Amino acid sequence: MGKDVIIACDFASREATLNFLDQFTGRKPFIKIGMELYYAEGPQIVRELKARGHKIFLDLKLHDIPNTVKKSMAVLSRLDVDMTNLHAGGTKAMMEAALEGLTRPDGTRPILIAVTQLTSTSPEALKRDLLIDAPMEEVVMHYAQNAKEAGLDGVVCSPLEAEAVHTRCGRDFVTVTPGVRFADGDKGDQVRVMTPAQAKTIGSDYIVVGRPITAAADPVAAYERCIAEFVD
Ligand code: C5P
Repeated sequence: MGKDVIIACDFASREATLNFLDQFTGRKPFIKIGMELYYAEGPQIVRELKARGHKIFLDLKLHDIPNTVKKSMAVLSRLDVDMTNLHAGGTKAMMEAALEGLTRPDGTRPILIAVTQLTSTSPEALKRDLLIDAPMEEVVMHYAQNAKEAGLDGVVCSPLEAEAVHTRCGRDFVTVTPGVRFADGDKGDQVRVMTPAQAKTIGSDYIVVGRPITAAADPVAAYERCIAEFVD
């Protein structure tokens, strides 16, 4: 899998997104479109950014009955995105249905990755709210294994979990890791972070970087720094 830096375009409108991306006159970054932008602007924003030459990770985290997810994935696949995702908690049957829906008539499909447990879910909430008694790490690894068995390409995980995921699911199983910060940067609300260089060392396949690039005084320079540390 090609190592790359994915910029989280966590903007509320088309205008804000284009203003940001207009600064990138050379290399076209791989970008992540999340729920906020997608729900604000609809599928047209995906078509427009794709037409401008960006690779797109559509981060909508689907979770529903298998039939609904299958049909929705077919729609997302026709948007020609490069990567999309779902919640592994929807079961293996749901993940298998998603893959079926995502596969285009010519056999190609976007990379499909699973969210295991959200990093916002604490071990206490796992037990108290979700009634899951197993330790968080075991739950995350078990869900990753389920995703692998269902035929998915990988998982979103903390960079601190990437090595264990590769050990359990194989080197080719893709790890997409947010929670990346520069050594001299502000952590914001992220708690468990790694630098791009550390993420490269532990074997992340893709890093997802938001505010260290979007809120930088010079976003293009911050992006190039990520590329230099993580890819080159
Ligand atoms: O600004 P920052 O670099 O923290 O953005 C990280 C991006 O990755 C955000 O879009 C956030 O929603 C997403 N993400 C995350 N942690 C996860 C899953 C997704 O930070 N476990």
